[in-house]
Amino acid sequence: ERTRVGIVGAGPAGLLLARHLHMSGIDCVVLESRDREYVERRQRAGILEQGTVEALRAVGAADRLEREGIPHEGIELRFSRRSHRVDFPSLTGGRRVWVYAQTEVVKDLVALQLREGPPLLFDAPVLAVEGPDTKRPLIRYVHAGRERTLTCDWVVGCDGYHGVTRRGLPPGALRTYERTHPYSWFGILADAPPAYDELIYAHSDRGFALASMRSPHVSRLYLQVPNGTDPDAWSDARIWDELDARFATEGDWRLHRGPIIAKAVLPMRSSVTEPMAWGRVFLAGDAAHIVPPTGAKGLNLAAADVVVLARAFDHLKVTGSTDLLDAYSDTCLRRVWRAEHFSFFMTSTLHKAPEQSEFDTRLQLSQLERITASWHAAAELAENYAGLPMGGKG
Ligand code: FAD
Ligand code: DHB
Repeated sequence: ERTRVGIVGAGPAGLLLARHLHMSGIDCVVLESRDREYVERRQRAGILEQGTVEALRAVGAADRLEREGIPHEGIELRFSRRSHRVDFPSLTGGRRVWVYAQTEVVKDLVALQLREGPPLLFDAPVLAVEGPDTKRPLIRYVHAGRERTLTCDWVVGCDGYHGVTRRGLPPGALRTYERTHPYSWFGILADAPPAYDELIYAHSDRGFALASMRSPHVSRLYLQVPNGTDPDAWSDARIWDELDARFATEGDWRLHRGPIIAKAVLPMRSSVTEPMAWGRVFLAGDAAHIVPPTGAKGLNLAAADVVVLARAFDHLKVTGSTDLLDAYSDTCLRRVWRAEHFSFFMTSTLHKAPEQSEFDTRLQLSQLERITASWHAAAELAENYAGLPMGGKG
């Protein structure tokens, strides 16, 4: 078997890249280790930047998003028992974000791809990528109980943080810069209408909390918890009480409660691997970088990588030049490090570290006050949150 571009992983990065290549008439194959249902149900991100929405539109994958996605023009910051709104359009020259879950993006892209191609194989775990610096890198994978080989001109690892592509590159070729954070997020999904129109990021003495949503009927909520927290050790009542305590304001403000339909604890990590390419192998999305979720950059960064890579493959097809492919890593890393900084800033400004002193808390509150008092400080947050233009200099 052979193809022009072999893509490892059918998360948002792999699926969006395949769709772009298909639209440009570039042959590719996507190999995914899990089954379709698993990939479509995995509960993850919920906020799409305008650039991500435009990238989905450009490949004809935004029909349902246009109908069901909820545009948001700001967020609320809650601290010292008060609420402050950050308005995106007025601070960014008209940009906004969309609430549309990653599960739905993945479903839409999978449905399109199974209908129109290119080939997408589920239950096809990749064992190894070999010969990254040869002209014909190979993907070794298993499908229907047999080991197979896919010979490629180029390979793109879209296989997430635990993927195999990065590990197949020669030791010493890459460097990973990494940092873990001393807390996790406890995420729940509840059959309850959100008690708020926009997301609420709350700083409190008890730690961080985030109120998000999946639809007008489903709330998505997160609590900062210690690393190693067992979600089953928390009763539903304790979860709701803790959320209400962290979102408490001077008024009488309460969440709408309802059945909790999913619970999970997610560790938080910052990580960047450089360069994002070696020989004829590229890394995109979580395979190359991870951000802590505060600020909702993970999925959007994955989409931005793929937009850059798709343009580079297009350029190769049209001009025969690998210039843009050669520049891929440098082009992406500028945006990646900006998002790393922003995610780190949001995380460290809003969370309470285990040994946090009162001095540290005062610094956080001063920074939050500054955002609500200064147009410039608010615009800095809004520009990063709503997303810098894709492919731009950022
Ligand atoms: P992934 O979505 O991880 O996709 C990688 C794919 O590769 C997977 O389908 C995997 O099964 C497949 N794969 C792995 N190894 C192999 C192999 N050997 N062979 C074949 N296939 C393979 N971001 C936010 O902005 N907000 C959030 O609330 C949020 N929550 C998150 C919760 C969790 C638990 C995680 C892990 C991430 C979360 N993120 C969140 C980040 C966001 O979901 C990711 O940044 C996004 O999924 C990146 O897309 P991707 O396509 O690069 O990687
Ligand atoms: C969601 C996740 C985030 O990390 C965030 O900053 C905002 C929203 C969400 O899952 O809805």
